[in-house]
Amino acid sequence: MSFGAPAGASQSTTSSSPSRIHVLGAGAVGLLIAAHLRQSGRPITLLLRTQAAVDRFLHGGNCIGVVNDWTKAHPTRRLFLASDPCASLAPWKAADVQAEAPTADSSSRGPMISRLILATKAQDTLHAYWSVKERLCSQSTVVLLQNGMGVYEAIQREFYPSPQQHQKEPATDIPTFIIGTNSHGCLRCQNEEGEKEEDFVTHHTAFGSCLFAVRPSLLNPPPALPESALDMLTALSSLSLDVSITNWSDLHLRLLLKLAANATINPVTALTDCRNGYLAPPPPGSDSQCVDQDYYTSMHSYLSSACAEISAIYARAHPHLHSELTARAIEDYVTHIAHTTARNRSSMLQDVAAGRQTEVEWINGYLVRLGQQHGVPTPVNTLLYTLVKLKEASSHHTKY
Ligand SMILES: *[C@@H]1O[C@H](CO)[C@@H](O)[C@H](O)[C@H]1NC(C)=O
Ligand SMILES: *[C@@H]1O[C@H](CO)[C@@H](O)[C@H](O)[C@H]1NC(C)=O
Ligand SMILES: *[C@@H]1O[C@H](CO)[C@@H](O)[C@H](O)[C@H]1NC(C)=O
Repeated sequence: MSFGAPAGASQSTTSSSPSRIHVLGAGAVGLLIAAHLRQSGRPITLLLRTQAAVDRFLHGGNCIGVVNDWTKAHPTRRLFLASDPCASLAPWKAADVQAEAPTADSSSRGPMISRLILATKAQDTLHAYWSVKERLCSQSTVVLLQNGMGVYEAIQREFYPSPQQHQKEPATDIPTFIIGTNSHGCLRCQNEEGEKEEDFVTHHTAFGSCLFAVRPSLLNPPPALPESALDMLTALSSLSLDVSITNWSDLHLRLLLKLAANATINPVTALTDCRNGYLAPPPPGSDSQCVDQDYYTSMHSYLSSACAEISAIYARAHPHLHSELTARAIEDYVTHIAHTTARNRSSMLQDVAAGRQTEVEWINGYLVRLGQQHGVPTPVNTLLYTLVKLKEASSHHTKY
């Protein structure tokens, strides 16, 4: 398999003992990936927030539990069960995982980290990155697994401003980034008090897929890919999580389409407490249940204006992708997603219903900022963003 590596860069990946992978963000997704990596023979260290969490982890026997809920519903589960030991019906455990907490003295560097998976929520990523930044160097690789867009840009802005300046001094500290997107459903169960029922256990509820690509360096000329990046891609692509590796322009296109679907479907469903299918009702007269003509017309007009706005932002921000991101193409994609997930409740609706902070900052908020940066007005996204912020505030900050 070729990852577009420079010649000669991939020699040492066959060495006998695989290198350790650090995982920061022990939520449902982080634990799922960490457990599968451990199962495939990789040494794993979880970076936990506190020493108390490390103690709980050690007390629980240094392992991550995975409950394969998806196998209950999966039509070809026998096939999976036969071919993959991780797909048994019973919960399984990835044993012998290490855990560390940040040292009290944040200025002490700690040992270098060559391979890091950052699986925190988008809104926690900058703080999480800050806690490990001094342990990363140009030979390190960081995998970002956040929903939404703009996390990579935020890290660059915050920690590596103005890469051009680095040309004068050697850029010794900027790691290679791999961007990932995950559609596996997973969650950690909570008990009635809202506490985590089981520590370090993740429920794999729906079988999806993962896609990864190396994000091209902003440095000019770009440095050769470090060995850690090639090894990380090898490790990820061996997991039994339907993983594919692609190039950045392919992944970028898919992320932009997904962002458009999330930006149009999620806020409206979150604000009105309805399932995704209501966003793209079948036209009146089609053989499904009768749909009110005005409802059809207004949803249709909402989707067209939202998609036209997103396409206009993309056209300025990513002109090279414009032929694939026309208003029409975006609207077709969004409609397709609303139909295929018709009976689902969007993640933003689930967040709002649970009184949690949503990812709107990284979805509509990202589009508004991108529009501002490129001089494209964003009335639709600004309104959606504002209403979701209002919804969040009314459910957990302010009392009137
Ligand atoms: C990137 O991947 C896509 C899809 O696999 C492919 O069509 C395209 O040619 C690739 N582009 C480059 C620059 O390799
Ligand atoms: C975004 O949309 C995709 C479908 O395109 C969905 O699988 C995913 O859960 C959504 N993400 C968020 C954060 O809503
Ligand atoms: C939608 O819901 C179905 C059934 O509840 C589930 O299997 C599927 O994974 C969900 N899809 C998304 C994108 O969340």
